[in-house]
Amino acid sequence: MRQHGKNIILVGMMGTGKSTVARLLAEQLGYSLVDLDAAIVDSAGSSIPEIFAEKGETYFRDLESEVLEKVLQSDRQIIATGGGVVLRPANRERMLEQGWVVALQASADVIVSRVGQDSGRPLLAGDVNERVKRILEERKDAYDFAHLTIDTSTLSVEKVAQQILAHYR
Ligand code: S3P
Repeated sequence: MRQHGKNIILVGMMGTGKSTVARLLAEQLGYSLVDLDAAIVDSAGSSIPEIFAEKGETYFRDLESEVLEKVLQSDRQIIATGGGVVLRPANRERMLEQGWVVALQASADVIVSRVGQDSGRPLLAGDVNERVKRILEERKDAYDFAHLTIDTSTLSVEKVAQQILAHYR
């Protein structure tokens, strides 16, 4: 399957490796690296915990959708999204239209070990174990729309990137 220049969009739960894999892919393909969370922080002028605390989740989701739409106007990018961008159907449609969507997944235990206790992720505040399990359950089918799905639980970043590229070109 040849997909010259098409954006590669990484979706998946927090802690599945989207940002680290995106960095490596961008390097290997010579594409621009876009971290959607970082773009949101730039646009808001405040951190993600601050946005959630001061403006609430709906405001964050609106901003996230806006920034996604803007980013998707270019191509040749590796885009690491935030875990919740898939919650809005319009975002899923846009991603499928403007890119090649790869879902990363991992077991709850691996996610917890990767995100740590204080991850700067408002949705994981409190008992991280319990929060990760609950959110995984809530989003059980949310990432199924992707073109390709890879379980990163036992794979190195290099291996994940290799598997993605094997399908991309
Ligand atoms: C979120 C994931 C985070 C960030 C925000 C909400 C989510 O991004 O966008 O804290 O709803 O899953 P990462 O998936 O990069 O941690």
